[in-house]
Amino acid sequence: MTELHTRTGSAATADVDAVVIGTLPARTNGANGGDDGDRTAPPRLAAGAAAVDAAFDGDVATLLAVAGATGRADEVVKVPTRGTLAAPLLVAVGLGKANGDDGEPSTEQLRRASGTAARALAGTGHAVTTLSWPGTDAAVATAEGTLLGAYTFTAYKKSEDRAPVGRVDLATDDPGAEQAVRRAAAVAQAVRTARDLVNTPPNDLYPASFAERAAALGEAAGLEVEVLDDAALAEGGYGGVLGVGSGSSRPPRLVRLRWSGGSAPRAAVALVGKGITFDTGGISIKPAANMDHMTSDMAGAAAVIATTVLAAELDLPVRVTATVPMAENMPSATAYRPADVLRMYGGKTVEVLNTDAEGRLILADAIVRAAEDEPDYLIETSTLTGAQIVALGTRTAGVMGSEVFRDRVAVLGREVGEDAWTMPLPDHIRSELDSRVADLANVTGSRNAGMLAAGVFLREFVPNGLHWAHIDIAGPSFHTGGPYGYTTKGGTGVPVRTLAAVLADIAENG
Ligand code: BES
Ligand code: MN
Ligand code: ZN
Repeated sequence: MTELHTRTGSAATADVDAVVIGTLPARTNGANGGDDGDRTAPPRLAAGAAAVDAAFDGDVATLLAVAGATGRADEVVKVPTRGTLAAPLLVAVGLGKANGDDGEPSTEQLRRASGTAARALAGTGHAVTTLSWPGTDAAVATAEGTLLGAYTFTAYKKSEDRAPVGRVDLATDDPGAEQAVRRAAAVAQAVRTARDLVNTPPNDLYPASFAERAAALGEAAGLEVEVLDDAALAEGGYGGVLGVGSGSSRPPRLVRLRWSGGSAPRAAVALVGKGITFDTGGISIKPAANMDHMTSDMAGAAAVIATTVLAAELDLPVRVTATVPMAENMPSATAYRPADVLRMYGGKTVEVLNTDAEGRLILADAIVRAAEDEPDYLIETSTLTGAQIVALGTRTAGVMGSEVFRDRVAVLGREVGEDAWTMPLPDHIRSELDSRVADLANVTGSRNAGMLAAGVFLREFVPNGLHWAHIDIAGPSFHTGGPYGYTTKGGTGVPVRTLAAVLADIAENG
């Protein structure tokens, strides 16, 4: 894995293989005119590029423009330095138009450009980046972006095309940056863990093996670990998890991980994540096209596991208990079927009208179990509905729940660069879930507001008065297009950074 260090010396004289600087589009008249800047003028240089520019006698922007640099986001221009710098290669990465009033790039722009740079540096041994200069926030953003952009998943490849960049030194003027960078590296590592779990194919990641991996990660971090197998689930009355898992030859599990919160925890937080290791739809089977995407239907579980481990590693003063239901949704002679009635953990009954609305069934069990611990907050996250993608697209999570807490979660998500938007849970939708035979049905009779209907279903299992949030990550947790910024193909690790930010905020403010 890519090594990170901080350094205070000039990048111009660093004895490394490459130096990274940032570029921004030239200002047009009225800097916020909505265009990409003046494409004929040379790009502006980011703050950290000063020493490099001085070594080039102030000509670096002009030189880069000759090579086609415009400063647009995701642009990479490489220039051999021919002795001008100690390093043989200069890598100029575009930050994109700065939309802030000060004309400075946002932390997310720095994070993304760092990810783009890290990808462009694949095959390089040792680089210095100046995107991290000046100040702690820039160093943190650069650390995160670098480690996430350098991520590769090669467990199933004979050989790697080009190894990720070996080592990146973050130029900084801040002696305190080192500690902040260590924390950022731990957060990035948690994101990478979640990506690894999502990227592991479903023939190798099924409920039992997923539970083993979660337990191993938890034990290594000193967490309390409990795994309920199918016999224990039957004994405990977990009808949702058992029903959904009944079609698979690989029986379901429920994993519980607990970080104590140290000696004086400020609050108790329950995390719940959907762990469908593959979703065929079951008897209500999905069309074949793009069904492979359903290897990522355990992204919520992956994020919750990785975040709980992270809380222990950061020694956060918050008690965190993860409750993670795991099942494979398969059609078979033993599968649950439309018209079945399941008795959920806690006693509510649900009429199954569509076996492809399975996530909410395993989550209902897990939410009721998690709430038994009487946490102060409950956050559940899941690849719950295709309707999330219809409403918000592939990069913005939908956040529902109790009003104040769900808004807090959505704001924190946006702050860390995991886009999120609050969605309502209209009361009138509840009656659309009325069932002929059971307490409620698992789907409504229409496609309208599918994301909200799923949230309204989950709300039925959350105790009154508990602060809770449901984060639908169907789109943002899995990236099917080409890489951009620090987002690589496949599992993205969303919403680990949001969850980490919420836990840190609760540690600080209760
Ligand atoms: N896992 C899917 C949701 C999903 C769809 C995630 C696309 C990622 C990408 C979920 O289990 C599902 O099948 N939901 C159904 C619900 C419907 C039957 C009410 C859906 O969205 O179509
Ligand atoms: Mn489904
Ligand atoms: Zn699903």
